[in-house]
Amino acid sequence: MPFSASDRHDITHLWEKMAPNVEFLGEEAMERLFKSHPKTKTYFSHLNVEHGSAAVRAQGAKVLNAIGHASKNLDHLDEALSNLSDKHAHDLRVDPGNFHLLCHNILVVLAIHFPEDFTPRAHAAFDKFLAAVSETLYSKYR
Ligand code: HEM
Repeated sequence: MPFSASDRHDITHLWEKMAPNVEFLGEEAMERLFKSHPKTKTYFSHLNVEHGSAAVRAQGAKVLNAIGHASKNLDHLDEALSNLSDKHAHDLRVDPGNFHLLCHNILVVLAIHFPEDFTPRAHAAFDKFLAAVSETLYSKYR
């Protein structure tokens, strides 16, 4: 689905709000994912996923930074996320059904921390964006 001018504006704006705090916000998104969907922890069994773990914080920051990178490449997500897509499909073998769970938790974190910016329009735009990122990350499964 193509991104409209207002989608692009809202996606960029929300990313700019998140960018200074990727560790804090990313950690919260991962922690909410693990608490609300404990089976997702199985992919991270080699890491310490307890509350306050540095590994969760680092993973959250990596995820959000990848999302930031994607937000700057809305017209070529396939190229921008190619390595990450190979990694999730071939090395990590993450079941595609998990992506929307993480995306939902990222949206929750945005809604909590940036309520003024998380308008219904911005919510819809970021949801569309995260769905496109996810679709790109699991595109190589087929
Ligand atoms: C690793 C991004 C969804 C499981 C990573 C890395 C990034 C990333 C940037 C680090 C890659 C590297 O170091 O080369 C994303 C994004 C996602 C997403 C943007 C969706 C919006 C998921 C989901 C799962 C998952 C849904 C499983 C529930 C993992 C695992 C690793 C990883 C297990 C390796 C962790 C480690 O060993 O350090 N992801 N990811 N990812 N991701 Fe994802």
